[in-house]
Amino acid sequence: MVRQKIIMDNDTGIDDSLGLLYLLASPEAEIIGIASSAGNVPARRVAANNLALLDLCRAPELEVALGAAEPLAIPLRTTEDTHGPQGVGYAELPESTRKLSDRSAAQLWVDLVREHPGEIVGLCTGPLTNLALALRLEPQLPQLLRRLVIMGGAFNHPGNTTPTNEWNVHVDPEAAKEVFDAFSAAPADRRPIVCALDITETIEMRPKHLALLAERAASTPIELVRESDPPEARSGASNPLVRFLTDAVRFYFDFHKLYDQGYLAHMHDPFAAAVALDHALAVTKPATVDVELAGTITRATTVADWAGMWEREPNADIVIGTDPELFFERLISRVGDYAAAIYPEVHA
Ligand code: RIB
Ligand code: CA
Repeated sequence: MVRQKIIMDNDTGIDDSLGLLYLLASPEAEIIGIASSAGNVPARRVAANNLALLDLCRAPELEVALGAAEPLAIPLRTTEDTHGPQGVGYAELPESTRKLSDRSAAQLWVDLVREHPGEIVGLCTGPLTNLALALRLEPQLPQLLRRLVIMGGAFNHPGNTTPTNEWNVHVDPEAAKEVFDAFSAAPADRRPIVCALDITETIEMRPKHLALLAERAASTPIELVRESDPPEARSGASNPLVRFLTDAVRFYFDFHKLYDQGYLAHMHDPFAAAVALDHALAVTKPATVDVELAGTITRATTVADWAGMWEREPNADIVIGTDPELFFERLISRVGDYAAAIYPEVHA
């Protein structure tokens, strides 16, 4: 099998964790670098979460680079109320002894695309600060990447941070604009594939999905988390990876319930990871995307021109359709099998 080289740039985060696990659990994925971007939690916490997740997964050495502490032009805003104090919900990950890369997240992007021209799929599941910094260092980056997949934005859909903007773009709108502008000259087969809220908010994880994953991992007991579970409840699953996922995602269920979205969790980042490995999961439509920077109530809103009204070439392929059940089949089978495989002693 020819494995797909991937750079994952994340702001780990609960759903970022699932995105990283999805890649680690997918034999066709070859993660060659992880860039830690400030967003859900500060960059140093993101990097620590990435290293700790590699420990939890008993993963081989993988380069994890630290990103910029602040967005390009505005102070950092984080969201521990959404992702928990450490950024992984109710779960707690012990600090890793793995070492961070000597190079910055931006330098990691630049060096790897120069080393592997035309081979790498970039996956961004956090603010685009470090990709924008990389583009400033290497303007040819769009031509040096094989493809870019971005989780971010909202088009014909309400925002999740203000009425019109989405969190990753909200944190660093200047970076998002620099990224979309940089891809304006990209050929059709190099346009970023954009997984915006329009599609990711149709990917709704529910307690049954966690139970199916635990069952696939042969973890015991099979737990069905409930709205009535107190915050201090913790999973007793025999498999450590299932325990982590249950404690992390239950926080996300509580958060979505608190904001009247139901006892569920939107799988923004793992969906983008699945698309990065298999573009056929996504039905896309080309558009010219730009980011509002000057609006008073609309700043950081992503705008899609689907009809060429701006007389500018399309710079994005926006995901307008998918099969959520097919995604969950892949997530549950891959991560469930992976959890069983990395903790064989649990089932002995
Ligand atoms: O708006 C959803 C996105 O913001 C996801 O990537 C989530 O992890 C947060 O970063
Ligand atoms: Ca994220």
